[in-house]
Amino acid sequence: MARNFPEGFWWGSATASYQIEGAVAEGGRGTSIWDTFSHTPGKTLNGDTGDVADDHFHRWEADLDLMAELGLGAYRFSVAWPRIQPTGTGAVEPRGLDFYDRLVDGLLARGITPVATLYHWDLPQPLEDAGGWPARETALAFEGYADAVAGRLGDRVAVWTTLNEPWCSAFLGYGSGVHAPGRTSDADALAAAHHLNLAHGLAGRVIRERVPAAQLSVTLNVHQLRPASDSAADADAVRQIDAVGNRVFLDPMLKGFYPDDLIADTASVTDWAFVRDGDTATINCGVDVLGVNYYTTNTVQAGVPGTVAVRDDGHQASDASSWPGADHIGFPAMPGKRTAMGWLVQPDGLTDLLLRLQRDYGVPMMITENGSAWADVVTPDGGVHDPDRIDYLERHLGAVMDAVERGADVRGYFAWSLLDNFEWAWGYDRRFGLVYVDYATQARILKDSARRYAAIVGGGVL
Ligand code: FCB
Repeated sequence: MARNFPEGFWWGSATASYQIEGAVAEGGRGTSIWDTFSHTPGKTLNGDTGDVADDHFHRWEADLDLMAELGLGAYRFSVAWPRIQPTGTGAVEPRGLDFYDRLVDGLLARGITPVATLYHWDLPQPLEDAGGWPARETALAFEGYADAVAGRLGDRVAVWTTLNEPWCSAFLGYGSGVHAPGRTSDADALAAAHHLNLAHGLAGRVIRERVPAAQLSVTLNVHQLRPASDSAADADAVRQIDAVGNRVFLDPMLKGFYPDDLIADTASVTDWAFVRDGDTATINCGVDVLGVNYYTTNTVQAGVPGTVAVRDDGHQASDASSWPGADHIGFPAMPGKRTAMGWLVQPDGLTDLLLRLQRDYGVPMMITENGSAWADVVTPDGGVHDPDRIDYLERHLGAVMDAVERGADVRGYFAWSLLDNFEWAWGYDRRFGLVYVDYATQARILKDSARRYAAIVGGGVL
């Protein structure tokens, strides 16, 4: 039975600067924490770095042509802070702004709506050297960066997203250390979370001033949690992980406060003295559309620490936790089909998540990332046949429709990702693209899933 998506639904694909651009030493770009981290032995699979990636910095026009060929109506990309401010503060590098200026014009010329993310994890290294996200100054610096970018591109970008997945920046970057900058301190991770929230609020205010017509957004990887049993202890474990994994961002950003249970659960880690008067009001700057990244669910169990969250699996196993104050909680592996990332395929989790967000926060949403990695190969016929990715795509779009039909206000869907790319700690080993990239030649090959997605997008029908 054909299912029609809402009128005006945004159909797009998503990427991130460090994962695709390459050209790390061109155009006056400074160094980011991911340059440093990926060049540190043992931090990424096979020692892969983003030095070249998809060479999108040089091939962007052909990549926009690919999107046009697929009929995509919107494109979610991120701006590399070290291209705009090589040291993170002060003088703006005009060549950096010029690159994104041309990109935005190139999108508009092809009838593609630009959706820009200001921060997808590439913090200028000098800001990390000065303390990184656990330091308040980093949030203040972000305000200046947002001002420079919105001032130049604001008039042509429809949606401004402040941050991508601040949970990963804070808790993988400063907690478990499996992401850049690779630090491991529960207290620093919580301070980082607060300063990322503050950065969102400060940048949000600047964007509203600069471009009143734009829609303001933030993208969160809200964990969809399931209890391992119906015991009270497991229900409480879900509550606690929901606090430190989800409500630590959702509540201040959308309601203007930190949850009491979060403060209590983490009392042995921090006294939260880094939250100053007025901060939560700043953070609650008003989000027009919440970006939701969804890949899988997590099962949560009380009293069995030591198992690792499936969603939390950087290449380097870490003894440090991504969940401050939750050392007694575990994440047991559940049976079921898994992607090449080891993530369970759980489309109904997306329906549950959208309905929960609608109920608890009542804000319009867009899926800013959803997709899957598989062991893709180019076959002798020159194609890349990826039935598992097509199945994942169709089932998750069905799950979005299930939520829409039950009252969730979902405005769009951005497939992760347009291209195979540098998958962080997993380097080039994990392929998420609708388009296959031959890294030796930089050739792009449309996978079968790209053609299937184009057909869905073209008809607005699943
Ligand atoms: C998300 C990231 C994105 C990509 C996908 C697979 O956590 O935002 O850059 O790596 O996971």
